[in-house]
Amino acid sequence: MSFWREVEAFLRSFALREGLTEEEFRFVERELKRYAPKSFKGVHPVYGEPYHSTTTGPVAEALGKFLGPSRLLEKAKKYDELTLLEVGFGLGHNAVITAAELLKVNPRLRINYYALDLSPPPYREPLPPPYDGLQRKILSALPEVELNGLRLKLITGDARKTIKSLSIKADAVFHDGFSPFRNPELWSLEFLALVKERLKDDGYWVSYSSSLAVRRALLELGFKVGSGVKAGRKRPSTVASLKGEVPPLEPEEKEKLLSSPYATPIRDPTLSAGPLELLARYFLEVFKKGAR
Ligand SMILES: C[S@@+](CC[C@H](N)C(=O)[O-])C[C@H]1O[C@@H](n2cnc3c(N)ncnc32)[C@H](O)[C@@H]1O
Repeated sequence: MSFWREVEAFLRSFALREGLTEEEFRFVERELKRYAPKSFKGVHPVYGEPYHSTTTGPVAEALGKFLGPSRLLEKAKKYDELTLLEVGFGLGHNAVITAAELLKVNPRLRINYYALDLSPPPYREPLPPPYDGLQRKILSALPEVELNGLRLKLITGDARKTIKSLSIKADAVFHDGFSPFRNPELWSLEFLALVKERLKDDGYWVSYSSSLAVRRALLELGFKVGSGVKAGRKRPSTVASLKGEVPPLEPEEKEKLLSSPYATPIRDPTLSAGPLELLARYFLEVFKKGAR
């Protein structure tokens, strides 16, 4: 069945099950079609997205959107052990670049890096020097790496389940799923609550995403939510912390977060729903809050 047929078949049964009005049905249908994955070459076969920003590239993205805002470089100077959790290991670029940069700042540092991924891609994309050597060593030792100061564990499977096996308190979480409207499983309030339990109070949750749904979920979970790096004309990334200071949100972003109907968390109470179900429920909620 083609993807669009699948979306339509799903929508019909969803509408019957939920007793949608015609107006609700049309709204959810329009929004789903607007955001559902496109398929084109060189991207993930299911989610239709590349693993990294194609404009900035993996190195600038790892340094600018993840490592920098996480404040780990400052912490590496002060502490001898840091713990990280990455949601979405993908090609391993964030892991390699982060480990290399942290060990440069403090060669005696011990890094505990926990990474979750549904199914990491079977291929590699070589990183440029100075990361290429470490990349080869890490990727050839997966899923458990012990290298100088780095101890990395890659746990394969749906992160909504596998995260429960981790009893850690991380100094930072790199939240790097595909985008919320393509991969909503990783961005629900319920999943973010599990992530929160594994983050230290003064730790930082960082992501490239500036999604209102995600920011609103973080806010409802008690995080302070701030702006990360702004790349070109795109909206800035997100930094959140329970007790740490975060850079302020731009006034218009703050306003949207408080008043837009799209600033509604994605809900996944059973932590097992499929992407279409999660998005249809989300758009129905958005409609009920007044979006047209
Ligand atoms: C944007 S890529 C991550 C890129 C990666 N951080 C890197 O540095 O190369 C998103 C990743 O999320 C993973 N993913 C999607 N849904 C998932 C799920 N339910 N559980 C765990 N991982 C998932 C995908 O397999 C993909 O590798």
